[in-house]
Amino acid sequence: MSTFSHIRGLGFHVPERLYTNTDLEKIVDTNDEWITTRTGIKQRHVVEDETCLDLTYEASLKALKDAGMEADELTHIIIATFTGDMPVPSTACMLMERLGIKNKAAMDIAAACSGFVYGIEVARALINLDPTAKILLCGAEVLTSRVNWEDRSTCVLFGDGAGATILTAGDGIETGKIVDTLIRADGGPSSNLTVKGGGSAHPYKINQKVGEEYFVQMQGREIYRFAVRSMTAICNEILEKHNLTADDVNVLLPHQANLRIIEAVGKKLGVDRERVFVNVDKYGNTSAASIPIALADARESGFINEGDLVLLTTFGGGLTWGAALVQF
Ligand code: UT7
Repeated sequence: MSTFSHIRGLGFHVPERLYTNTDLEKIVDTNDEWITTRTGIKQRHVVEDETCLDLTYEASLKALKDAGMEADELTHIIIATFTGDMPVPSTACMLMERLGIKNKAAMDIAAACSGFVYGIEVARALINLDPTAKILLCGAEVLTSRVNWEDRSTCVLFGDGAGATILTAGDGIETGKIVDTLIRADGGPSSNLTVKGGGSAHPYKINQKVGEEYFVQMQGREIYRFAVRSMTAICNEILEKHNLTADDVNVLLPHQANLRIIEAVGKKLGVDRERVFVNVDKYGNTSAASIPIALADARESGFINEGDLVLLTTFGGGLTWGAALVQF
């Protein structure tokens, strides 16, 4: 018999510094009208001195407080990120040290923007293995560290931030029950979204100038089409698996990458616009942090209420995608 996993606490943190669309007009050849109509983004938070660890630490403290738990009760720390403080050690290990705890498990997950939904599935598996597990699962990204500020087609899209959740076993009746998760990948079209520089296929060579490959490179149109197709398909699959329809979903919470993508997915699924959560206007695309930030924001603002069935869905580099059903 499987054990149910429940979300016990939520929290998020973004850096203070804001870049509005008007601020970006001073950096690249762009304008508020283009960014707003093509993406729905109005502003994004950008780190000054903070690192991925700093953002994750603040979000984690809020999630622990929300769950009414102390850090030393945790058994696992998992961080979904591809812009951690450094490749080794993992940001999860560094977070363990900053939280003042030892001798627990810690690892980062690299599944790009889909990392948090991948992380929910990993956490569910760990809780099934050991129902006493108490897991801190974060999505955190400092994507502006990998953005080419001379490339207007990408630099306007991204922001920094972290979201954190606490997951533990439960009876399946209490709030925050993870009903199910589905995660997928297809390496074929991976070249449509890459950050190559520094990897072993593109190692740094002495005296080499940092080039284009060091930054996010993306075929926007292809990713747009993939996003709508993959999220719609996986949402339909998870609903059908549980004999549910779009009418049963109280809140659709998609990866916050682009308002047009979010609205297209809602429309194709048949979820009314009022039931679709959007905060991409405030934070831009924060990659793996997007879903946990949106979850915490939606609950704080009263968009998600007790009793709501929430459908999360995501897509990203890899290419990867996924969905999760959460009963609040
Ligand atoms: O987490 C996953 C991350 N990736 C995504 O979510 C990206 C998915 N794709 C998208 O969101 C959209 O494809 C974009 C927002 C990236 C681009 O929108 P689009 O409607 O597909 O525009 P486009 O790339 O086809 O570009 C249209 C025009 C081009 O000019 P020309 O060739 O028509 O003269 C671009 O040069 O818009 C121009 N353009 C800009 N203009 C002003 C591209 N970026 C900008 C900009 N400001 N920032």
